[in-house]
This record gives sequence, C-alpha cells and structure tokens, in this order.
Amino acid sequence: MTTTGTTLVIGATGNTGSRTVAQLTAAGHRVKAASRRETPVAGTEPVPFDWYDPATHVAALDGVDRVYLIPPVGDSDPAATMLPFLHQARTAGVHRAVLLSSSAIPEGGPAVGTVHQALPGLFEQWAVLRPSWFMQNFTGTHAHARSIRDEGIIWTAAESGRVGFVDAEDIAAVAVRALTDGQSPNADLVLTGPEALSHDDIAAIITEVTGRAVIHRRLSYEQMRDRLTTQVPVEFAAMLAGMDRAIAGGAEDRITDTVQRLTGRPPRTFQALLEREMQCSG
Ligand SMILES: NC(=O)c1ccc[n+]([C@@H]2O[C@H](COP(=O)([O-])OP(=O)(O)OC[C@H]3O[C@@H](n4cnc5c(N)ncnc54)[C@H](OP(=O)(O)O)[C@@H]3O)[C@@H](O)[C@H]2O)c1
Repeated sequence: MTTTGTTLVIGATGNTGSRTVAQLTAAGHRVKAASRRETPVAGTEPVPFDWYDPATHVAALDGVDRVYLIPPVGDSDPAATMLPFLHQARTAGVHRAVLLSSSAIPEGGPAVGTVHQALPGLFEQWAVLRPSWFMQNFTGTHAHARSIRDEGIIWTAAESGRVGFVDAEDIAAVAVRALTDGQSPNADLVLTGPEALSHDDIAAIITEVTGRAVIHRRLSYEQMRDRLTTQVPVEFAAMLAGMDRAIAGGAEDRITDTVQRLTGRPPRTFQALLEREMQCSG
C-alpha cells in the first residue's frame, strides 16, 4: 500500500468526517482530526479547529498536504469563511482538496456552490462530493431519527418523491479514494445509494427490519416550514422545506454509479444499514 502525506479532516466528529478518519487510518494514512471539541479520535492527531476562529487555522494546516472540507453547517454564506482559509491552505502546501457539498447544490449555486466553483482555480488536485440525502438521517441525531424514535413518524413535504439515499460509510469510502488515489478525480461527483426510495418506502423498511411500526406523514410546504421553524432559523427552515418540495417534484429521483466506480463495490442498501445498526446495538 502507498501511503500519502497527512490529511486534515475538518468535521472529524461528524457523519462523513468521522467515517473518513476511520477509513483513512485503517488504510495506514496519517490524519489530523479537526474539531471544536476536545474529542480524541483513536489513531489520529487531534487538532482544535473552528471555522470562525482563524487563530486555530495555522496549527491545523501545519504539515498537511491534503484536506477534507465540511463547510460550517448552517452558514448561508460559507464562501466568506472558507475561501480565506483555502488560500491559506494552498500557501501552506496543501495540493489536494475534497469538498463535501450536496446533490441539491450545483457548481456556482447557493451557499457551498460558490466554494465548489472556486476549488479548481485554487488546487491542482480537487474533488467535490455531491451526495444525495444521507441514510443516517433516519438513524442518528437528525430530526427524522428523533421523530422516528419519539413518535414513530417521519414528517416531510416530499410527498411520494423518491431519493437516492446514500450511506455515509459509502460517502467516506469515496472521500478516501478522492483524497488518496494517485490520480485525483478533479471532478464533481454525485453520490447515491443503490436505489431511489420514497419516504413511504423508508418507513416500510424500518418497520420491517426493526419490527417497530413507523409511518410517513405528508405535510404541505408551509406546514413543514413551520414545523422546522421550531428547530432552526426561519430562512433555513424555508430552505429545507423547499428541498422537500423539490424532492416531491422528482429532483432527487436518480441513482449514479459513482460509489461503484470509485470504490470497486456497489453502494450499500438502507436495509443493510439498519441491519448493521441493529447488530451493533443488540
Ligand atoms: N444530511 C444530509 O442528508 C446531507 C445530504 C447532502 C449533503 N449534506 C451536507 O453534509 C454536511 C454535513 O452535514 P451533517 O448534518 O452530516 O453534519 P456533520 O458532518 O455530522 O456535523 C458537522 C461537523 O462539522 C463540524 N463543525 C460544525 N461547525 C463547525 C465550526 N464552526 N468549525 C469547525 N467545525 C465545525 C462539527 O464538528 P465539531 O462539533 O466537533 O466541531 C461536525 O463534525 C453539510 O454541509 C450538509 O449540507 C448533508
């Protein structure tokens, strides 16, 4: 196995960052695991990092030649925070950057779409991962997972629209390839799971695998926005409800071969993820 230099993983405690750290270290790569918390991540050099505290950036970039980038979550203008850091990273010797964006946000689009657009001009080697919605939204700390646990209900304005839900383990597996392969992708990669599923399908699979009855309740755009406004700022709530409306219109009804192409194996099913989680908790 060829090892690379050192990768700075931003968002190392999060859904894709934690799995990227685990898979990089398991493959023998050196990792600096960045977080605002002092959470040591086994086998890595922990490093304090806050997007909004430039004083943490110099030490985080020391000795690093590649970065995995999770944008500051919930920031409507991440470019204002990220671009100065990315210029600094290039000057510090980083030559490969892999950015986590979203299937819903095209190059040059809102929020992280501006960072996506700037990336090829900043780094010789780059990739933008654009995953569809995460399967872990139904099992982790996301609002869907909480309402499933508390009420046995998934609330959406997505109607019967289908989504190519993807396992965060598969996103991490693609991130590892994009960070470490000899040939950098230098591409925008849309990632999905193996099948497009509606939220009715998701509820039925959870019911079947766990034995606990879960249903999907359909809300209008306005009802969904108002429900989310109790949890997040109103503009963000409107954006999330709008994403549901786009799903209802078929915007996420697709699957891609990216996971298979980059990792050499098919993406995991939602059923397999639930069975894996049941084994871990049982
Ligand atoms: N959920 C989905 O279905 C989905 C689909 C497509 C794309 N995405 C994208 O995935 C990204 C991650 O979303 P997620 O919900 O999965 O979150 P996550 O990665 O599980 O958690 C956010 C991570 O960012 C770090 N972080 C937050 N604020 C930070 C700050 N100011 N400075 C440094 N680090 C900070 C947190 O680390 P610490 O708290 O340890 O500092 C944490 O590790 C988002 O950009 C989202 O748009 C999500």
